[in-house]
Amino acid sequence: MDQTHSHPLGKDDGKLNSKGLNLYHESSGERAEAYLCGFLILVKENKFIMGKVAERKCSFCDRPEHEVNILFTGLKGNICDTCIENAHQLLEENTAKGHKDQDARNDLRRHRLYKPREIKAFLDQYVIGQDDAKKVLSVAIYNHYKRLLHPPKEDDVEIEKSNIIMVGETGTGKTLLAKTIARLLQVPFAIVDATVFTEAGYVGEDVESILSRLLQAADYNIEAAQRGIIFIDEIDKTGRKGDNPSITRDVSGEGVQQAMLKLLEGSDVLVPPQGGRKHPEQKMIKMNTQNILFICGGAFEGIDKMIARRVQTSAIGYNAIKSSKSLDRSNLLQYVNAQDLRSFGLIPELLGRLPLVTYLNPLDKDALRRILTEPKNALIKQYTKLFDIEGIKLMVDDDALEYMVTKAIDFKLGGRGLRSICEMILTDAMFDLPSEKKPGESFHVTREYARQMLEGDNSKFDYLRAA
Ligand SMILES: Nc1ncnc2c1ncn2[C@@H]1O[C@H](COP(=O)(O)OP(=O)(O)OP(=O)(O)O)[C@@H](O)[C@H]1O
Ligand SMILES: [Mg+2]
Repeated sequence: MDQTHSHPLGKDDGKLNSKGLNLYHESSGERAEAYLCGFLILVKENKFIMGKVAERKCSFCDRPEHEVNILFTGLKGNICDTCIENAHQLLEENTAKGHKDQDARNDLRRHRLYKPREIKAFLDQYVIGQDDAKKVLSVAIYNHYKRLLHPPKEDDVEIEKSNIIMVGETGTGKTLLAKTIARLLQVPFAIVDATVFTEAGYVGEDVESILSRLLQAADYNIEAAQRGIIFIDEIDKTGRKGDNPSITRDVSGEGVQQAMLKLLEGSDVLVPPQGGRKHPEQKMIKMNTQNILFICGGAFEGIDKMIARRVQTSAIGYNAIKSSKSLDRSNLLQYVNAQDLRSFGLIPELLGRLPLVTYLNPLDKDALRRILTEPKNALIKQYTKLFDIEGIKLMVDDDALEYMVTKAIDFKLGGRGLRSICEMILTDAMFDLPSEKKPGESFHVTREYARQMLEGDNSKFDYLRAA
């Protein structure tokens, strides 16, 4: 589009009147110009001059300049006032919609409310066994949503939160459970590790940064973060080291437990938004933990002895367990209660704020065998995919799986041991096959091959095995 006024009178400085027919006179009255249907009519020194002008148009609606109120010109195009107004309106509607989407995400009533059974069914896809822990967690999450959806009215019954503590041997699926819950939840969810915290003022992170993680998970939306769920892993590492009293202060143990009290209970806490240590120059954000659900997990190595001691004492005391209920000595964790956790070194005030105690079963042969193949991202499925990418079909015999499971039990690392075993068996194959085999071929793991890899002449397995 030509924007210059290329009329034959171009040399005239004559400003074009875009108002169409309005003739007007300029200063001296000697000169008049008018614009009509694309023609410029100029009266100058009593002479009538007429020339054709390439009129400017709006680049959006194509209306010529004389039909609009104001035409804004840019380097490569023009826009009229009507188009600007329309665009502005559209923009406003769209950004308002953006706000609405955000509101919808924060509006719990629009969330799909999973029933406890649905939550458990979801957990079943990823975690094998551990039915008791799954049930407790499913109910806790469901109730958490209920609490949020039905805030107490005045003089109403207030549903208090029930924070949870999970006890289970290493590698039995505590962290896995937490991660799986995170996949399902629509409320902000953060997993933190209790080992990095110390009492305020010492090297290490302040306990308040637990909340910073949740805040980050909620994209710094405080409202949403205040309804979130936090999983504190390795809580047992904060246990008081009873039989090894140190002359220095126990800043990462009991001190941390005490600092956690006010978070767990529900109060206003000043949170450093970036996490780490509180710093005088850092701007703090106030967060209320009233509606945040805390789930703690820990291995509590050696707690079975404390349980055994308690159970045995009560076996001869007044509270003797009825003989009809025989004691399952192979899995003492199932009898765990707050008293055992207290003997382990958790302070009573903390335990009081974690009213639900649940446990994870040690993984037996059957469970380990299922872990290899059944979960959605089971180990064997993962390796099959790795080989698949190479164009090689991986086949593992049943008795090879059986063999791997027996070895995993020797490892005493729970589900984690399986991964090391798989790696040991398949590393050679993964090293050689990409250069040797042609796509379309298959790789077959038999029991003998697995045994050869683990226990063959240059295998280190015997040294890796738990004593
Ligand atoms: N019940 C289970 N179902 C499926 N996989 C499991 C199960 N338990 C353990 N695993 C496997 O073992 C791995 C380690 O488990 P996880 O990290 O949950 O252990 P943990 O209980 O947190 O142990 P730790 O106390 O040492 O932290 C998981 O990534 C998973 O592959
Ligand atoms: Mg863990």
